[in-house]
Amino acid sequence: MRTRLVAGNWKMHASKAANRALLEAVAAGAATVVGAECAVCVPFPYLAQAAGLLQGTKVALGAQNASEHAQGAFTGEVSAAMLAEFDCRYVLVGHSERRQLYGEGDAQISGKFSAVLAAGMTPVLCVGETLEEREAGRTQATVARQLEAVLARSGRAAFATAVVAYEPVWAIGSGRTASPAQAQAVHAFLRQRLLPETRILYGGSVKPGNSEALFSQRDVDGGLIGGAALVAADFLAILAAAAQRKE
Ligand code: 13P
Repeated sequence: MRTRLVAGNWKMHASKAANRALLEAVAAGAATVVGAECAVCVPFPYLAQAAGLLQGTKVALGAQNASEHAQGAFTGEVSAAMLAEFDCRYVLVGHSERRQLYGEGDAQISGKFSAVLAAGMTPVLCVGETLEEREAGRTQATVARQLEAVLARSGRAAFATAVVAYEPVWAIGSGRTASPAQAQAVHAFLRQRLLPETRILYGGSVKPGNSEALFSQRDVDGGLIGGAALVAADFLAILAAAAQRKE
């Protein structure tokens, strides 16, 4: 059985004061949740603060990116081994904002995925099509290409632990969510290339009001949450929906 996972992606939203309030509220709320795991992926400078606040709680820590290199002259980069030293369990890899705004391609992303695994953490590989690709009927071809690059390098067995997040680019921060049926169709397509135990999360405008319907789909194993992860009550409501998903 796949344990559902709800992961918050804070993106570039944080401050010491806001983090403390948010993490204390999320940790308190998550303490009584059974049947779903949760994590928060925070900006690099706050990893130490978050690791301290989350110690002994049910909330796992994650980062939003990692270098594909182990070490060296790569100014401004952060290695996977560094993240592991701060108790990171999850690392987002290939988020669409990294692909679109920072030019990350499939080869580089597969290197990042491999580096995160080598450091003993769990990569969360993000895949998803743009609106243009969806309208051109290229949704499956796009996510298959994104996944293939990683499978070719790390192998399918890596997905016994690694997580996939399907995030249609047109649904991110837009208030426009994939319908539960649209999400399920892509998740089922991805599942054929993965393992029965691979957790496949849905991301893109997940809110308390739509999370239950999304999580009720057979191959939707939780969510990757952007905006709603910054509001403790919303994030906890989404976590509760994941915990209640019917088999
Ligand atoms: P929103 O939930 O704000 O649409 O963001 C989704 C996302 O990009 C999570 O990684």
